[in-house]
Amino acid sequence: MELTIAVVVGLILVLLAVAFLRANAFPKEMDVIPGSLGWPVIGESFSFISEFSSPSGIFSFMNKRQQRYGKVFKSYVLGRYMVFTTGREASKVLLTGKDGMVSLNLFTTGQKVLGPNSLLQQNGEDHKRLRRLIAEPLSIDGLKKYFQFINDLAIEMFDQWDGQKVLVLEEASTFTLKVIGNMIMSLEPEGEEQEKFRDYFKIISSSFASLPFNIPGTAFYRGMKARDGMFEMLDTIIARRRNGSDMKQDFLGSLIKKHGKEGSEGKDDDEKLTDAQMKDNILTLLIAGHDTTTAALTWLVKFLGENHAALDQLREEHMEIRSKRKSGSNLTWSEVNNMPYTAKVVSETLRRATILPWYSRKAAMDFEIDGYRIKKGWSVNLDVVSIHHDPQVFADPHKFDPSRFDDPLRSFSFLGFGNGPRMCPGMNLAKLEISIFIHHLVCRYKWKPLEKDDSVQPTLVRMPKNKYPIIVESL
Ligand code: HEM
Repeated sequence: MELTIAVVVGLILVLLAVAFLRANAFPKEMDVIPGSLGWPVIGESFSFISEFSSPSGIFSFMNKRQQRYGKVFKSYVLGRYMVFTTGREASKVLLTGKDGMVSLNLFTTGQKVLGPNSLLQQNGEDHKRLRRLIAEPLSIDGLKKYFQFINDLAIEMFDQWDGQKVLVLEEASTFTLKVIGNMIMSLEPEGEEQEKFRDYFKIISSSFASLPFNIPGTAFYRGMKARDGMFEMLDTIIARRRNGSDMKQDFLGSLIKKHGKEGSEGKDDDEKLTDAQMKDNILTLLIAGHDTTTAALTWLVKFLGENHAALDQLREEHMEIRSKRKSGSNLTWSEVNNMPYTAKVVSETLRRATILPWYSRKAAMDFEIDGYRIKKGWSVNLDVVSIHHDPQVFADPHKFDPSRFDDPLRSFSFLGFGNGPRMCPGMNLAKLEISIFIHHLVCRYKWKPLEKDDSVQPTLVRMPKNKYPIIVESL
């Protein structure tokens, strides 16, 4: 009897403590924003993690709350106060982020894996300066010298596809990693160095969405070890470049020559990059450029396979390009830069897939968005999936229809490569890789999917969970 009374009293005390914490643990300013902050300390973290791993991924977390609370709602996830919003107006405010209003909101694992010098962790003038250095070799002119390598690599890959069952995501991943490895540091597509690079990269990449527990056995721990291994590899390559035994005209070569601390002359020391800055930013380009382009290629094959009218029109464009060529010659730089329907297919793929489903910013000061006051330090997240599926802008939004891009759209309604000061600096490289890939694919093959499954992987970049298996046949 006494024990029962003690249990009941204990339970009442626990409930009172929880009610007290709920009433006092969260900032009062958040009261006016619709939504729930969940339990004290834990917030809605469990629900966020479980929705992240669901068939529709993080969109399901956002969508369920939008249905309940409207387009702006609050949450508390993994120790962060979050506000979610969507729409053109909100995206203009967040992505242009005037006068240092917001910074990029990289989660803890991302910060540790990419390192403190990463472009993603710089703000204001530091961000502008670093971006200038990084964006220059990624301009259309800067990419011309990699065209032949990418084209040869695509031909070689497609030579292996005839009559085969192929996991598109695996093939696309190998292709994009070889392209970026060559562009950054002239890695040969085959051989021991490529294998080592690939192994390190895969481990780092799969640690990116893990929880930041640096203890043996965790994905994060393995990721940090692989980062050390990758950096040792880069140290060796940088040393070879510096002692003149291996001069190359690649991204690393241009950084060392023009902007490296030891390499450049006549420049103010602050304007030069240390080796640590170079390494963090090479890793940043690898991480930011690999999964995104791999996902885009995989979704593209899926959408084209499901939309025969678009595939026929695309094939017509490429067959015409091919028919105008002298026999025996191959795709050229000027041809790849003149593929108008292909450009629309790429945009429509990025709209439908919305590879990065939400862009996250941290408030660097108090400001207002959609009529709600945001306090410094809160995380503000833009749901891009809803922007890309707004029926007011994109009629019948779930239909794959590249002709939507026949006429220019209102700004901030399509954010495939983002917008504002953080807009993707790698978009020309991505478009180049995709256009070359498409050309060889549609000129040579038809294909059929081997499974029907629309689930996405529990990763930050949305990709088909089943890696999209197809069977390929020559035309
Ligand atoms: C289809 C492929 C790609 C897509 C869809 C894509 C998309 C994006 C988007 C949407 C952003 C802005 C995110 C935000 O505002 O929060 C971004 C930023 C970025 N992307 Fe890409 N990207 C692609 C390929 C690449 C490639 C190939 C590279 C590098 C070689 C790259 C490097 C970067 C970097 C470094 C940033 C951060 C820019 C900054 O903070 O200033 N991306 N990308």
